[in-house]
Amino acid sequence: MKPKIVVFTGAGVSAESGLKTFRDMGGLWHEHRLEDVASPEGWRRDPATVLRFYNERRLGVLAASPNAAHAAIARLEDKFEVTIVTQNIDDLHERAGSTRVLHVHGEILKARSSADESRIYPMRGPLIELGDLCELGSQLRPDVVWFGENVRFLREAAQHFAEADKVLAIGTSLTVWPAAGLVDYAPAAAERVFVSPDLQDVPDDYRFLRGTAVETVPGLVEQWLAQA
Ligand code: APR
Repeated sequence: MKPKIVVFTGAGVSAESGLKTFRDMGGLWHEHRLEDVASPEGWRRDPATVLRFYNERRLGVLAASPNAAHAAIARLEDKFEVTIVTQNIDDLHERAGSTRVLHVHGEILKARSSADESRIYPMRGPLIELGDLCELGSQLRPDVVWFGENVRFLREAAQHFAEADKVLAIGTSLTVWPAAGLVDYAPAAAERVFVSPDLQDVPDDYRFLRGTAVETVPGLVEQWLAQA
């Protein structure tokens, strides 16, 4: 039995791949009102604007590459049983080689029926346009969890945290619930590390490792692999 690691990531882990975060300066929520582009109300009001917002982000994800932090996290699987619980909707962890990724806020590279959330489709191309319909005849939407919608894999994710020997949290402001609450499921015996370049609220009993993901995660991973 390999020791278990949970890696909990937010937008910060993809920042050095060129993808914007939400709440840093110049972030997405400084450019857009989240009510307009990431809520069911915004979708009902103006679906074209919502589709355009995610089409732009999807093109950015397709043009981006995993960074050294994503690659280091994937290497952990050599000696650990790794579960990634990510708030991110990009596929950079998967493209770096990680094999178990729980996207609690959905995935931008999948489309979904707006009439039946269980009908999820791989994207045929990079864009979803008005008039792209599911087999029920309803407009397709990004398979992304909007504010006010149900977060996914929460119980399963909490269980992985509760069984973890190590928890590594990277690049999240811990401002969006219930995902943010997952960090508290780590057991007292687990080694807990929190990576961020900014001084911010670090969860109780997490060691604060200050720096960007690319500056800090590869070195920490090499340490853990050498000790395993
Ligand atoms: N390396 C590591 N961390 C970084 C880097 C970097 N290069 N750059 C920024 N950060 C940190 C910031 O300090 C901040 O703590 O990443 C965090 C980004 O916070 P947010 O922009 O709030 O992103 P996130 O925590 O993932 O947001 C959670 O909010 O809008 C919703 O659904 C959306 O999943 C998202 C959720």
